[in-house]
Amino acid sequence: MLVANILALSLLTALHATSGICKLLSLPRSRALQLHEKRDVIPLGFTLAGPASPETTLKLRIALVQNNVDGLLNALNDVSTPDGADYGKHLSKTEVEQYVSPKADSLTAVNSWLSANDLNATKLSPAGDWLAIELPVSKANDLFNADFSLFTHESSGVQAIRTMAYSIPASLKGHLNLVYPTTSFPDPSASGSTFVPLKYIKRVESDSSSIPSPLPCGNGTTPACLQALYGIPTTPAVNPSNQLAVTGHFGNIAHYDFLQQFLIDYRPDMNSSTNFTVVSVDDGSNDQSAPSVTEGDLDIQYTVGLATNVPVTYIAVGMNYTDGGLDGYLDMINYLLAQDSPPQVLTTSYGFSESSISQALTNNLCNAYAQLGARGTSILFASGDSGAGCTANSTAFAPTFPSNCPYVTSVGATQGFSPEVAASFSSGGFSNYYSTPSYQKAAVAEYVAQLSGAGTDTRFNVSGRGFPDVSAKGDDFRVWVGSPFASYGTSASSPTFASIIALLNDRLASAGRPPLGFLNPFLYTKGVAALTDIVAGNNTNCNNQGFEATPGWDPVTGLGTPDFAKLLAVVGL
Ligand SMILES: *[C@@H]1O[C@H](CO)[C@@H](O)[C@H](O)[C@H]1NC(C)=O
Ligand SMILES: *[C@@H]1O[C@H](CO)[C@@H](O)[C@H](O)[C@H]1NC(C)=O
Ligand SMILES: *[C@@H]1O[C@H](CO)[C@@H](O)[C@H](O)[C@H]1NC(C)=O
Ligand SMILES: *[C@@H]1O[C@H](CO)[C@@H](O)[C@H](O)[C@H]1NC(C)=O
Ligand SMILES: *[C@@H]1O[C@H](CO)[C@@H](O)[C@H](O)[C@H]1NC(C)=O
Ligand SMILES: *[C@@H]1O[C@H](CO)[C@@H](O)[C@H](O)[C@H]1NC(C)=O
Ligand SMILES: *[C@@H]1O[C@H](CO)[C@@H](O)[C@H](O)[C@H]1NC(C)=O
Ligand SMILES: *[C@@H]1O[C@H](CO)[C@@H](O)[C@H](O)[C@H]1NC(C)=O
Repeated sequence: MLVANILALSLLTALHATSGICKLLSLPRSRALQLHEKRDVIPLGFTLAGPASPETTLKLRIALVQNNVDGLLNALNDVSTPDGADYGKHLSKTEVEQYVSPKADSLTAVNSWLSANDLNATKLSPAGDWLAIELPVSKANDLFNADFSLFTHESSGVQAIRTMAYSIPASLKGHLNLVYPTTSFPDPSASGSTFVPLKYIKRVESDSSSIPSPLPCGNGTTPACLQALYGIPTTPAVNPSNQLAVTGHFGNIAHYDFLQQFLIDYRPDMNSSTNFTVVSVDDGSNDQSAPSVTEGDLDIQYTVGLATNVPVTYIAVGMNYTDGGLDGYLDMINYLLAQDSPPQVLTTSYGFSESSISQALTNNLCNAYAQLGARGTSILFASGDSGAGCTANSTAFAPTFPSNCPYVTSVGATQGFSPEVAASFSSGGFSNYYSTPSYQKAAVAEYVAQLSGAGTDTRFNVSGRGFPDVSAKGDDFRVWVGSPFASYGTSASSPTFASIIALLNDRLASAGRPPLGFLNPFLYTKGVAALTDIVAGNNTNCNNQGFEATPGWDPVTGLGTPDFAKLLAVVGL
């Protein structure tokens, strides 16, 4: 046993051409490695291309165990639950960091392990719970008993270095949370099969097919249509400190001149010079000459054009799959957590299949959303555009991330307007990673009770977090991208719902009240009376498999669509 270990390690030592004496002295470390994360099969859509070159430099991130996640989650619950003594008493940056900063002994343990291995770490997050290191593949394989290899994403041809498993020293258990990127395989393509940012988009040829209706929705979904449908006011917001942020990933940009033309055409009552601010994370750019990909334009046009006069920021996040695929997600949330006054509403129209990301990583990101929620930010994510998410030859549905996170609000889509019904593409279902959160237990139980088989169906896991939480129209959104286009997707629904929350926050600010913050405990209690239940339609768009919209919460349209006047009433305005 001992001999075998020494032999194996000596071989590695020779391979790495480092000092034999030093390596021999550090041998016991390797014997004490414990498996930390693993994946049994290569995710659908990827193939193993071969070993990674031993000299290639890996940029790895290390997350340290946060000292009191339970304390953070309790605090989040307290500040987000209506009628509680602490409702609306959001936490400061310092208060949040006290919960999530690593313990001193975790810092000591990880840092001494790093220096024993000649590694310099850079601090990445404000709370010090993320570090970055750089090392060659050969050394990473040794250090983590890993097999970093080259994997090809078939449809895009993108290659990435990942490992199917890795280990950490037993002495670091409880101190080191995860190493990234290792066992996560997010879909690298902006128009990938797992989560299409826009269901589809088409040029609008003419309005000849307009449907007569008392609502101004017959020529497609426009700001006027949404204002009429949901009672969204056209009155300008008045509080400049009330901010709405839109994230832009995968190189999507938002054009200034397209927004201006959109406002001229669809918001003639607004100043057409109303603009948005751009910030860059990870060298993301809003290069106006870049080829037009329309997600950014849709998201900006339906925030600036709906949340009248609310200051809107476009967070352009750089994207480099070879660096991990989720670096942008990690850096974006740390960028916001580092701010003293983060935006009160954040909407994101991109996501992934839950199973493609390691659970340690989704936990870490989900806890970061909990931190921002505790600070008073409402975080909305499009639920996804793949219905229940059935994948080829799979016997189970595929829930989406970050919608699976219990600390974000997942927004599904409806279509039509008289009446609105579930959009067939609206992603929804149940997480396999997160159990049903308490705020949702009654609503989910009521839904499950009416299913035939009452939840025994093995295609989905009714003990999981159900999503979406709410919905909004997601069909036929008119956008201006040099000519009028119609776009479809929950990525239209999320900016719409976010705009409504931003306008509510403006009214609350005027009344001297805090913003709504993390919405779900409110939505599932007082909020439900201000939502229109969607009771028809389904997301059975994949081999007739999926869910149906039903009275009450359902995993296609959540609790329903917003009614601004009723929302004002339930928040007491
Ligand atoms: C670590 O950083 C120190 C100081 O910046 C430097 O002198 C040293 O060479 C670095 N070591 C490695 C292994 O990069
Ligand atoms: C559609 O647009 C046309 C031309 O702008 C307008 O006359 C008509 O009233 C619109 N129809 C509906 C249902 O809004
Ligand atoms: C419209 O907005 C621009 C930019 O903020 C401003 O310069 C202009 O005066 C505004 N026009 C009107 C009519 O308010
Ligand atoms: C909006 O801001 C951008 C960047 O500052 C600027 O280039 C553009 O002209 C502005 N648009 C309008 C309509 O003022
Ligand atoms: C992504 O990172 C790799 C390795 O650092 C680099 O070679 C490549 O140019 C980067 N690509 C983009 C689009 O930034
Ligand atoms: C699905 O199963 C069929 C029949 O067994 C097979 O031909 C096909 O390659 C499979 N598709 C995938 C994506 O695994
Ligand atoms: C079902 O969800 C729970 C979390 O609620 C999880 O622990 C369990 O592993 C899931 N089952 C499957 C088969 O994924
Ligand atoms: C699902 O909805 C579609 C219309 O979007 C309808 O044609 C179909 O019959 C519905 N399926 C079920 C099972 O209700």
